[in-house]
Amino acid sequence: MADGLTIISAAKDTGSVCIADVSKTFRVEDRTVHALDKVSLAIEPGEFISIVGPSGCGKSTLLRFLAGLDMPDNGSVSVDGETIERPSLKRGIVFQDHRLLPWLSVQKNIALGLHSVAGSDLAKNGRVRYLIDLVGLKVSRKHCRTSFPAACRSALRLPAD
Ligand SMILES: Nc1ncnc2c1ncn2[C@@H]1O[C@H](COP(=O)(O)OP(=O)(O)O)[C@@H](O)[C@H]1O
Ligand SMILES: [Mg+2]
Repeated sequence: MADGLTIISAAKDTGSVCIADVSKTFRVEDRTVHALDKVSLAIEPGEFISIVGPSGCGKSTLLRFLAGLDMPDNGSVSVDGETIERPSLKRGIVFQDHRLLPWLSVQKNIALGLHSVAGSDLAKNGRVRYLIDLVGLKVSRKHCRTSFPAACRSALRLPAD
């Protein structure tokens, strides 16, 4: 809590992931898509895993479960024994595309990640300024809308903590 914010950082012995017998089916008009069928995977704390497979094999669907953005039809996904049911600041995800809110400034896009973090606006603004300087964004902090330069969009994809 160096800057007055409660930022969660991973301890070395946490982050044990258990994906157990996970299945997911999507209905697309009159078609049924079996995105995942009884997938299981255990990841130890500190382990670095790459999930590789052809387009459409279910990689993103699995990652969305880990992020708590979607739920499996069957099976369970847990971290440190806790079933993932919703997004949490304990877990970050960097999307393939930028997912910026174009109607908000650089500053406000970054601050979104701190929305549910305890701390004063002063401390949060300080954190945002620190992060902008850390990644060397050469734009005004209030820089807004469609004019985000490409490098700026990439830097903004990173979680705010
Ligand atoms: N929200 C959704 N609605 C309908 N079909 C979906 C949805 N999300 C994923 N799918 C389908 O599920 C399958 C797996 O998708 P996805 O997990 O995105 O694959 P990958 O990331 O490996 O390319 C694909 O056939 C995709 O079209
Ligand atoms: Mg994908």
